[in-house]
Formats: sequence, structure tokens, C-alpha cells
Amino acid sequence: MQKIPKDLIIAIDGFSSSGKSTIAKDIAKTMCYKYLDTGSMYRALTYKILKNNINIQDPTAIKQMLDDTKIDFQLIEGKNHILLDGVSVEDKIRGLEVANFVSEVSTIAQIRTFLVKLQQEIGKKGNIVMDGRDIGTVVFPNADVKFFISASLETRAKRRYKELKAKSIDNNVNLLLEEVEANLKKRDKIDSERAHSPLKVADDAILVDTEKFTKEEQLDFVIKKIIEHTHS
Ligand code: DC
Repeated sequence: MQKIPKDLIIAIDGFSSSGKSTIAKDIAKTMCYKYLDTGSMYRALTYKILKNNINIQDPTAIKQMLDDTKIDFQLIEGKNHILLDGVSVEDKIRGLEVANFVSEVSTIAQIRTFLVKLQQEIGKKGNIVMDGRDIGTVVFPNADVKFFISASLETRAKRRYKELKAKSIDNNVNLLLEEVEANLKKRDKIDSERAHSPLKVADDAILVDTEKFTKEEQLDFVIKKIIEHTHS
């Protein structure tokens, strides 16, 4: 294998459950880079809003919350945890309650400005793979390599449903595939139609359709592209 390039910023964007976090984590592991799941940051703030009953229509309340918020990451027993105000909320942010509200929270400009600044601070030294919706377009428009990950709504819903069931998230035996699909559909719409940094494909992004490849083929493909790009 050719030499793995150092210090790069690799941006991975795509719809919910498109497989982008699997690819991002695999790239980070192969290249010994850091991995940042920016969706977890939007989810953590959504959790805080729900927990404290904060009115998202009230910019003063949002400002107060943000002035009083600290987000960090910590490796706990080999797993990357997001810390909200010093406490891991990793297990609190993946259920449908947060998922049903996170896209709405993500439309708020104050929230985006706060998180984008933090993401730029974390990523600026490079050696990082970041996944989200606006990494290649807004957070790091000059990222060294950008990928846009896609899969059909049906496939994404099946994947997410399996994941939720396997982790017993929501502790919900009655969870329906249709419910998960409806949530993804709603989020796709809000994420791509919002006024501030909507989800879109960056002009220079490389498209990866996760339905066309096995996991190994995907990783091979993206690593080849990263090496190609950094030699061109
Ligand atoms: O990747 P995810 O499904 O965990 O993201 C949750 C939500 O966060 C998603 O519906 C939109 C929002 N998000 C965003 O607006 N910008 C990002 N960079 C990452 C996520």
C-alpha cells in the first residue's frame, strides 16, 4: 500500500443513516486519524433543550443556554463519548425522541454558529475525519478531500431500524420500520431545505453510493481516492 498522507482534513457529508459514520470511522482507523461525529454535537444540544424545556423560538434563551454549555469528547472504555457539560450523554442522544427534534434544532443559526466554530477549532490542525451535513460546504470548504455518501431512503431506514433494535434504544419492542422511515424522511427534508447551511453536495465532493459496494470495497475506494487526491 502507498504511504498514508498526514495532516489532512477529510470531510464526509450525507443524509442520515447513509453509512457515512461507518466510512468515516474506517478511514480514521486506517489512517490513524481522529474522528469527529458532528451530528452528535447537534444531538447533545437537542437533548439539553428537551431536558431543560428551552423554548427554541426564544433567541435569548438559546443564547443563555449556549453561554452555559461545554461540549467535549472523551475515550471511555475504547468508545468515543460526547460530554455535555462534563457528563457523557452518548447513551442519551441516539433515541427517537432526540432524533425527532434534532433537525429542527439544527435550523437555528445561533446553534450552527456555535457548533461550526467549535468544529473548526477541533479540526484545524488536520489529521481528522469529520462527518456531518455541511463539513465540505461550510465547516471546512477547503478540506483536502470531500466525500458525499448516499443510499436510498428504504435502505437507510432498514439500517437505522436494525441499529435501534439491536441497541434496544428507546427500549421499544413496538418500534415500527415505518416510524423510522418517516423520521428519516422528515429529517432529510428539513436538513436539505433549511436556510442556514443546508445539506448539499459540495462541487468538489466525490460521490459514494454505499449500496453499490461492500464495506471493504468502500474503504478501498475512499482510501485510493484520498491517496490519488493528495498526489494530484
Ligand atoms: O448524523 P446524525 O443523524 O447524527 O445528525 C443528526 C442531525 O444533526 C441531522 O438530522 C442534522 C444535524 N446535523 C447538521 O445539521 N449538521 C451537521 N454537520 C451534522 C448534523
